[in-house]
Amino acid sequence: MKIFLDTANVDEIKKMCELGIVDGVTTNPTLVSKEKGKFKNLSELIGTICDVVKGPVSAEAISDDANGIVAEAEKFSKISNYVVVKVAMTTEGLKAVKILSKKGIKTNMTLIFSANQALLAAKAGANYVSPFIGRIDDTGHEGMQVIEDIQKIFSNYAFNTEIIVASIRHPLHVLEAAKIGADISTIPFNVLDKMLKHPLTDIGINKFKADFEKVKDAYKI
Ligand code: E4P
Repeated sequence: MKIFLDTANVDEIKKMCELGIVDGVTTNPTLVSKEKGKFKNLSELIGTICDVVKGPVSAEAISDDANGIVAEAEKFSKISNYVVVKVAMTTEGLKAVKILSKKGIKTNMTLIFSANQALLAAKAGANYVSPFIGRIDDTGHEGMQVIEDIQKIFSNYAFNTEIIVASIRHPLHVLEAAKIGADISTIPFNVLDKMLKHPLTDIGINKFKADFEKVKDAYKI
């Protein structure tokens, strides 16, 4: 499973990229708003993220109409070859994705909450779909069931569209996504950080250090 970082914070992205486990990044207007004051304009921020990640970086178009989305996407695509344009799942969004797929501009259809929405996005030619599982869980329904259904549908019809499991809230979401075989999980920094850690690892390290002290004169390579 590919791991994307769900943040627009360049420091967080640099830290996780150093570990060699980050394949891409997703941003949205909410995540960008948290970085206000740290960048000159969106092109600069997305360009910087692309330079660090050297993999797919999603940047979100905000126009409501297809022509506006396409115009934004064309500007985004000039920033870097790594840019993927996020388009909200609407009628106009679908039209825009179809146009952009013909132009060879990569798209990530976002704000997906049902398998049928994902099916339509794939039909329109989206490169990625982003089902928001945490927000589905919030409504009392099972977000992960939507991922299973999309996975089955995409496999039935051999769609090339990749599933980005989005709105991840905790490590169990990532584990479940990986067990289903989802292509990508886009993970907030704090969740990825939790995945690295286990209390038994820390206890084990301390015990080994204590025992090393007992034999350190002979513990030579
Ligand atoms: C990613 O593409 C989404 O923008 C993000 O995962 C949404 O997460 P949230 O529901 O925690 O805002």
